[in-house]
Amino acid sequence: MLIVSHRLLIGAVAAHGRGCSDPAAIFRDASAFRLNPRPPLGHTTPGQIMTDDHADEKLLPYESEPERQIRYRFAHLLASTPIPPDELGDNLTLYLRRQPLTDLLSLDALYRMVLDVPGVIMEFGVHRGRHLAALTALRGAYEPYHPHRRIIGFDTFTGFPDVTAIDATNPSAVPGRFSLTDSYVLHLRDVLATHEAAEHLGHIRRTLIFEGDVRETLPCYLTDNPHTVIALAYFDLDLYEPTRHTIDALKPYLTRGSVLAFDQLAHAKWPGETAALRDAVGIGNCSLRCLPGRATPVYLRWGE
Ligand SMILES: C[S@@+](CC[C@H](N)C(=O)[O-])C[C@H]1O[C@@H](n2cnc3c(N)ncnc32)[C@H](O)[C@@H]1O
Repeated sequence: MLIVSHRLLIGAVAAHGRGCSDPAAIFRDASAFRLNPRPPLGHTTPGQIMTDDHADEKLLPYESEPERQIRYRFAHLLASTPIPPDELGDNLTLYLRRQPLTDLLSLDALYRMVLDVPGVIMEFGVHRGRHLAALTALRGAYEPYHPHRRIIGFDTFTGFPDVTAIDATNPSAVPGRFSLTDSYVLHLRDVLATHEAAEHLGHIRRTLIFEGDVRETLPCYLTDNPHTVIALAYFDLDLYEPTRHTIDALKPYLTRGSVLAFDQLAHAKWPGETAALRDAVGIGNCSLRCLPGRATPVYLRWGE
């Protein structure tokens, strides 16, 4: 069996990235790696199949230094904006980078997929609530007179409650990650209520958040609301256990055509979400799709 060391491949790519126009030089570099006895991260020894890609940061998607600098620069520009407060909300796209803009466009595409599917929209893993706010605004744009289209978010708001072995491959997967202050949750409720107040049916509460472990709050919600049908479920819990639990709990409430969207599917840094779908549904039993040109979200239509 031909085993190619990942260090060797990275070495070849790195040599190329330095502007090496002589292909032979790449292989000279590569052969140096082959001779190097120091075991790199995620290495293999001859005859061994590599299994720990997730441990080698060069193989994972990550923010480059220039990208980080641009993000900080926009943060600074926004914090020091000369735009007066009453005009700032209408001009926020001035500071919107490609990534959050793409995220918004993806939410818009998913929302449009379920315009003819009855039921509610749920997000699992809300964090600061940017998706719930955007979905509420999209409801106002697309379905201002739909009284049953609830948008419901579930989060502990105190971060990851626990982490299992499959998730622990990611150093960011630690209990408490993504935790927020109580005052932030109050702020989020205020923001969402203000979005709702701007809607035509603003007198009906249709954007809701449930605080606590989703493994407890979702079954409670479903018991209290036996009329539930899920039009769209957006999974962004990052972890195996709660994602698996949530998919299992939702199954009786899905109809053919319900959309299940996943923020970390096929993501090497967060393998738990993919494993949860594989165990709960089987990825061969559904047609996974992505929006053209975008890595996430990955979605499926239930029953298709
Ligand atoms: C990546 S963040 C969500 C990001 C958010 N969707 C966004 O787009 O900004 C993951 C969230 O999942 C939540 N979470 C993870 N496990 C949970 C559980 N068992 N119950 C409730 N929330 C959980 C965390 O508290 C965290 O806020």
